[in-house]
Amino acid sequence: MTTAPIPGFPAGFRWGVSTSAYQIEGGATADGRGPSIWDTFAHTPGRIIDGSTGDVACDHYHRHREDVALLAGLGVSAYRFSIAWPRVRPGGTGPVNAAGLDFYDRLVDDLLATGIDPVATLFHWDLPQPLQDAGGWLNRDTAAHFAEYADVTAERLGDRVKLWITLNEPFIHLSLGHGTGEHAPGQTLLFDSFPAAHHQLLGHGLAVTALRARSTAPVAIANNYSPVVRHGDTDADHAAAAAYDALHNHLFTDPLLGRGYPDGFDPGVVRDGDLAVIAAPLDVLGVNYYNPTGVRAPEEGSPLPFELVPLEGYPRTAFDWPVVPDGLRTLLVGLRDRYGDALPPIQVTEGGCAYDDVPDADGQVPDPDRIAYLDGHLRAVLAAIDEGVDVTGYFVWSLLDNWEWAEGFTKRFGLVHVDFATGTRTPKSSYAWYRSQVGRG
Ligand code: NOJ
Repeated sequence: MTTAPIPGFPAGFRWGVSTSAYQIEGGATADGRGPSIWDTFAHTPGRIIDGSTGDVACDHYHRHREDVALLAGLGVSAYRFSIAWPRVRPGGTGPVNAAGLDFYDRLVDDLLATGIDPVATLFHWDLPQPLQDAGGWLNRDTAAHFAEYADVTAERLGDRVKLWITLNEPFIHLSLGHGTGEHAPGQTLLFDSFPAAHHQLLGHGLAVTALRARSTAPVAIANNYSPVVRHGDTDADHAAAAAYDALHNHLFTDPLLGRGYPDGFDPGVVRDGDLAVIAAPLDVLGVNYYNPTGVRAPEEGSPLPFELVPLEGYPRTAFDWPVVPDGLRTLLVGLRDRYGDALPPIQVTEGGCAYDDVPDADGQVPDPDRIAYLDGHLRAVLAAIDEGVDVTGYFVWSLLDNWEWAEGFTKRFGLVHVDFATGTRTPKSSYAWYRSQVGRG
């Protein structure tokens, strides 16, 4: 694998890495942090594959200087992290915990001191537990509380954050958290979960207004997308593929970009004026891409209007996800073709892969498959740019091996290996490779 920079990225392209609060911070009760739905879920026996929790995770809360030094050594121009709502407002609403904001204040200053743009996500799934007790995202009030939290956070950090991201992957939070129950809060409502889609979007729209009142930084949302690969050619297969595409790829983006909800997907709780709030102009669309999804017609009697099928013929990651770089090109071109002038510039806010990386006898961590993955996906971004799509950044998921939700510590996505027993960080070979790619903006 060459370490020469892939030629052709535009000047000013943003090179970054991403993390999220509950996956790396630890410090679960430090300095007044309250519990989130993920604390509750992880501490419920049987929910997490290895029985672990994010109580300590990478202990980033106490080691953030070391992690900023790793970012500086990597040479990235941006770092995407998330702010834990339960640190800033442990009750979800009510008193602000200044000590929680102090942590992000220090992090932002440390990043700026090393020339790295802080990119802050406000909600990466860690809803304060008291808000869940009041109904969570099924309760419309949560949207207003989210905007209040955006306001107090931007009041403190709005002069230094360089890009705001309101929500991370609201579709995954909806589907796994509220539809099928594999993620917190563990609800199994299937299509009855849709109010949680609308209230997340409403919270996003209200937060956009709150952020703009406090900060001149651009505002984005990070959506997860998965191009649909239809299996079979019956009318039912076509209908299933269209239904899955609408659910995964359009349910959130259509209303965000002014088209309202896709046909057949009205969440049933939309009030007059909501769609205008949700369609507040975005400066950037964040795109998280990992893999396409195979879809065919469901068996008779299935509760879902589609069946997901594994895609054959591709290399697979340790998560068993197929590696399909061209899916990213297809996705980016497809977004441009669907939304046209309504589409803001795109930044790929996550891309990456899990492998069973282990340090060798010399303390090196070779991960050639990750380098191949990233090389292929960056070339796919370039191909999309060549086809006229305005893509202005790419963030690798993730800086560090971290706590992968229901998979606990069993899936390693980092450019940096973490020994979860000791906290020791060891850059993998992909870290050196990514360093060779970045910093040319
Ligand atoms: C997307 C999520 O935003 C992130 O939290 C997760 O770790 C990665 N995908 C990998 O599954």
